[in-house]
Amino acid sequence: MNTEEKAEMAGRPLRAAVVTVSDRGYRGEREDRSGPAAGDILEQVGAVVSFHMVPDDRERIASQLCCLADEERVDVVITSGGTGLSPQDLTPEATLDVVDRRVPGIAEAIRARSMEKTDRSMLSRGEAGVRKETLIINLPGSPTAVIECLEVVVGVLDHAVELIRGEVVDCAKRAEAR
Ligand code: MTE
Repeated sequence: MNTEEKAEMAGRPLRAAVVTVSDRGYRGEREDRSGPAAGDILEQVGAVVSFHMVPDDRERIASQLCCLADEERVDVVITSGGTGLSPQDLTPEATLDVVDRRVPGIAEAIRARSMEKTDRSMLSRGEAGVRKETLIINLPGSPTAVIECLEVVVGVLDHAVELIRGEVVDCAKRAEAR
């Protein structure tokens, strides 16, 4: 991104995409309640949100993530579902296929805080990483899990996006000012 584009983007609302990963949802056999739950939280912090649905297919998931990062150039992609241990759970693999850099702290924080809610959270293999200038975060599939997990990270999204765009001049100065 050049300087002019950066100036244009500064101060604009966060652009987010929610990708629900579900075979049954994709076939229209199950209503998607997780995507809208994630969208509500993101909209509450002022984000502009688009919604997408893909089946549990590694290549389809990866190509949706690439499209959102490379063509739509959204700031943040939240995926929901496909992070567990069943054979069709491939969202983490698809995410690792396309990210340039992992952000392990995000996945660690989500799991650590989720353990306060349910031991089953250790069964989510969700990843987080950056592709170009887009932060991608995997969340589990149930609406409750999506809400619990997104609440862990939503407060740092703005700062993460600034860092990715190279807009943060001095984090230490900011910390002093707090
Ligand atoms: N994390 C939170 N915060 N709350 C939950 O209810 N459910 C767990 C886990 N993480 C859960 C959670 C369960 S039961 C599973 S199987 C895994 O997420 C993977 O879910 P997924 O396959 O829908 O992605």
